[in-house]
Amino acid sequence: MDHFTYRDGVLCAEDVPLSQIAEAVGTPFYCYSTATLEHHYKVFADALSGLDATVCYAVKANPNIAVISTLARLGAGADVVSGGELKRAMAAGVPPEKIVFSGVGKTRDELAQAIASGVMQINVESEPELQALNDVAMEAGVKAPVALRINPDIDAKTHAKISTGKSENKFGIEWTRAHAVYSRAAKMPGIDITGVAVHIGSQLTDLQPFHDAFRRLRDLVAMLRADGLPIRRLDLGGGLGIPYDGEPTPGPAEYAAVVRDTVADLGCSLVFEPGRMIVGNAGVMVSRIIYVKEGATRTFLIIDAAMNDLMRPSLYDAYHAIVPVSEPAGNAPQKPVDVVGPVCETGDTFCRQRPMPPVAAGDLLALRTAGAYGAAMASTYNTRPLLPEVLVSGKAFSLVRKRVEVEDIIAMDRLPAWISPAG
Ligand code: LLP
Repeated sequence: MDHFTYRDGVLCAEDVPLSQIAEAVGTPFYCYSTATLEHHYKVFADALSGLDATVCYAVKANPNIAVISTLARLGAGADVVSGGELKRAMAAGVPPEKIVFSGVGKTRDELAQAIASGVMQINVESEPELQALNDVAMEAGVKAPVALRINPDIDAKTHAKISTGKSENKFGIEWTRAHAVYSRAAKMPGIDITGVAVHIGSQLTDLQPFHDAFRRLRDLVAMLRADGLPIRRLDLGGGLGIPYDGEPTPGPAEYAAVVRDTVADLGCSLVFEPGRMIVGNAGVMVSRIIYVKEGATRTFLIIDAAMNDLMRPSLYDAYHAIVPVSEPAGNAPQKPVDVVGPVCETGDTFCRQRPMPPVAAGDLLALRTAGAYGAAMASTYNTRPLLPEVLVSGKAFSLVRKRVEVEDIIAMDRLPAWISPAG
């Protein structure tokens, strides 16, 4: 469900034609819909009603401060994975007592920052990290609130690059070691054990792996409690998948049913870290066709956005629906095309042999479901400026990140003393 629909022949974000935004900010750009963000957050939060749950939006999916603020105003907390994200979440108005700090390689500086900020919980992913956090907390003279992230050795049945819950993955503490590590943590003066965390992967479209992971967590909680270790909070991570191509996917209600079925009766407060589910459908990337190139064997639409702007197709062979901003006639003939960017790599391809209605150079295309892990993962490869981002609310739209100019990118470089610019 989203708020990008054709009206009077033009694809609109809520009440604003995307062509109007293109005129105002140039192409390519990202555009987000407030109504869609709010809808998804509410559907997710409502599905959990009756549970003692905190929804900590995974900032990595879309870290724009306007996006985080939109969700924070509805009551969302934040899941952050770097000192930078922690600063962003706080700048966006998320109270620290609703922030979870996750991540496999937090530095001592980041751990100290998390403690000083007063975050709700730090998810520890290894024994060396536990030791480091204990040291840092003792230096600060406090006890750090800690959940151990457990690796349950469960296959999330998603893309290999975004599966995190198998024992060969770098994430978490093997569940078979969990008891020993908890016992050790319980004796550390700088550590206050609050609970257990798990996150097995992203874009899960099958609920069974969640079920299996949460059951394993349940067994672990029973074992820990039997040994007198207090477990009061469970962090169930993110990972709920969304439809990219209209495929049926389980929604928040079905996901919540799995939660109720597995861990709801343990008397723990629950933390959720959804990212994609909240922002994925709430964003599009709009790009203009530069050339239509008739190749020897196929037609290429060469657009002004590239793999550096939306990496998902190159990195994960991900599917994004691509539609013309000007509504095609219902009976328009479809022709297979490859939509590609200007970057000098064959991987800079958004789709291959995809049926598309007739389009021409100068036309705008919208790449849909680009709100999650789109702008967040963009780079300046090929010295291409980072895209501007626009947030729409009803009839209003606002530039929420300006385009990074080429001059700004070049200005970050420095010549060493032994090369004189003057020659
Ligand atoms: N919590 C933790 C600890 C995570 O590592 C992640 C995502 C999330 C929550 C949020 O997961 P979500 O609800 O968004 O699935 N760039 C990839 C996705 C990487 C996900 C990384 N971790 C993509 O574009 O598909």
